[in-house]
Amino acid sequence: MRILIIGFGTVGRALATLLEESRAQLRAQHGLDPTIVGVVDSRGGVVSGNELAASELLVAKKSARGLAGMPGGIAGPLDAVRLIRESVADCVVQVVPSELSAPGAAIDQLKAAFTSRKHAVTATKAPLGVAMSELLGVAARSGVQLRYSATVGAGTPFLDLAASVSRSDRIERVEAILNGTTNFILSSMDEGRSYSEALAEATHLGYAETDPSNDVDGVDTAVKLVILANHAMRARKTFADARVQGIRGVTADQVTAAKGAGKVIRLIGRIDDAGLRVGPEEVEKGGVLDLPGATNAAVFTTATCGTVTLRGSGAGGANTASAIVRDLVEIWRTK
Ligand SMILES: NC(=O)c1ccc[n+]([C@@H]2O[C@H](COP(=O)([O-])OP(=O)(O)OC[C@H]3O[C@@H](n4cnc5c(N)ncnc54)[C@H](OP(=O)(O)O)[C@@H]3O)[C@@H](O)[C@H]2O)c1
Repeated sequence: MRILIIGFGTVGRALATLLEESRAQLRAQHGLDPTIVGVVDSRGGVVSGNELAASELLVAKKSARGLAGMPGGIAGPLDAVRLIRESVADCVVQVVPSELSAPGAAIDQLKAAFTSRKHAVTATKAPLGVAMSELLGVAARSGVQLRYSATVGAGTPFLDLAASVSRSDRIERVEAILNGTTNFILSSMDEGRSYSEALAEATHLGYAETDPSNDVDGVDTAVKLVILANHAMRARKTFADARVQGIRGVTADQVTAAKGAGKVIRLIGRIDDAGLRVGPEEVEKGGVLDLPGATNAAVFTTATCGTVTLRGSGAGGANTASAIVRDLVEIWRTK
């Protein structure tokens, strides 16, 4: 399977490393031989008809000229849509940033992949938050697949578990913590810090981005709920359907009051008959949603099997790359 990677940051580079490291296993277990035939970042890229060695891509990325300095490299910024259309790749892996307010470029990249008969795996949430049903439709009509395991919980398989459960059962309700940054901030407030002290700590340790709005305003959690509901609960939601409140207004006094009542405050995403909601809530101290640090968890309440709970790390380059490889294997197995 020939792969074109759009974006070569934390996740893209971890994917190149993982593909190299897991090569023998993928071949032995699945008969899958993924080869990278192109990589694009914001400064340029390199595309080829043949395999590009991961080790050489990683070295070039660190060099002054970047990917453009490789044989056949092109200085950019490049027209990713055109490169996708013209590439010999069988599958496009999209690992670029994209904002909900401007998802157009990322949507166009996915559509270009489908209409040129290429599968796509994305870790980029915004296109799905805005146009998931449409994108799945274009992929299906083009006879290719769109997979997106990494968008919810990175390597922890929330989407796979939910889809598996709902194959024979019905998920009636979901309660989840799907954003590690806000969970870290709220856990840190449990230890007596104010919101701004906890946010500063999260930024210092690399959990929060320079502009943490998407996380602290609940947007990231809401988009993940949209993806989960559409993937496993037969919904056709977009971000506009979610009611969203973030954690900026959570005070040290509220955290102390919750503690007195044997509770902690966490940013909870809910899917139930009332729709999709995100907001800070008091949950039982020591309960299943009282998670440490940047962990994610989801509790699925099902019609037949009771509650099914999954927890695990929800971010990280290698972790996210692992979900992408899982998707590549699924495409290979089912294409
Ligand atoms: N990191 C995680 O734990 C995680 C988990 C789940 C999902 N995700 C999602 O995965 C995506 C990638 O995350 P990341 O952590 O790898 O981000 P990152 O480290 O910021 O890397 C982003 C990459 O995209 C490239 N890029 C930016 N604009 C581009 C453009 N217009 N055309 C081509 N390439 C462009 C950047 O180029 P330069 O290298 O030149 O800057 C960089 O290589 C994001 O959507 C993120 O939300 C990340």
